[in-house]
Amino acid sequence: MSKINQTVTIVTGASSGIGEAIARELANAGGKVMLAARREDRLKELATELGDGVAYHATDVTDVDQTRALVQATIAKFGQVDVFINNAGVMPVSPLIDLKLDDWNTAIDVNIRGVLHGIAAVLPHLMERGSGHVINIGSVASLHVFPNFGVYCGTKFAVKAISEALRKETLGKVRVTTIYPGAVESELITASNDQQTGEQVEESFSFISPTAISRAVLYAIEQPDDVSVNEIVVRPSDQEL
Ligand SMILES: NC(=O)c1ccc[n+]([C@@H]2O[C@H](COP(=O)([O-])OP(=O)(O)OC[C@H]3O[C@@H](n4cnc5c(N)ncnc54)[C@H](OP(=O)(O)O)[C@@H]3O)[C@@H](O)[C@H]2O)c1
Repeated sequence: MSKINQTVTIVTGASSGIGEAIARELANAGGKVMLAARREDRLKELATELGDGVAYHATDVTDVDQTRALVQATIAKFGQVDVFINNAGVMPVSPLIDLKLDDWNTAIDVNIRGVLHGIAAVLPHLMERGSGHVINIGSVASLHVFPNFGVYCGTKFAVKAISEALRKETLGKVRVTTIYPGAVESELITASNDQQTGEQVEESFSFISPTAISRAVLYAIEQPDDVSVNEIVVRPSDQEL
């Protein structure tokens, strides 16, 4: 039997884009999946489509109590959590001189605090069991700095640092994977509220399907317990940085 059949995975940001693709990939491979995001109507529709092994729990990852409740709901439904995927993210891009402080704070709240809330919610459970897997979705913006993306890059550099610390602090118990996508088709660019930068991005890159990322996630999960796939970069084949 494939390992994924015995695996219970929480996916944050499962209401669209990469998170939705990850949920589909894992559920179609036979895994149990708990979907999380704020748009409950979308989660309900996806859970209904994917069938019995999939449930949902409306969650705002900027709220640690909601994120803890997500983990508790998953344990109540499926008995345990094996994999927690910190995928929820926002990308409000703009030049720093525009001083969009509300956007900066939202990016920090979702992309950094949200990831830390996921870790805070699931880590005690994984450490108690002495096994488990945390997968964080970084970005090529964790590896390179792009003009007008300063705050987003800062949040994604933080994801890389937090992931590496988590890996070193939980050796032999929790596997830690960080995936760094390049340009992927999703709602992320359209949700960015700087029209000019959004248009520049859309013109500058070709975009690959979110399934390119979900396949990498399944690969990392499917490895034997003594194999930890720590970092994967997945870009369009014509993307330089
Ligand atoms: N697309 C790309 O080119 C690309 C490249 C590199 C990295 N990434 C990363 O991939 C991840 C997924 O992004 P995507 O491209 O799939 O974009 P997307 O389609 O906009 O999906 C973002 C997801 O995050 C959720 N989310 C946002 N704020 C949230 C909050 N406060 N609490 C819970 N969920 C929240 C959204 O759901 P609700 O609005 O329903 O809450 C949505 O499901 C992000 O971390 C992003 O930085 C994307």
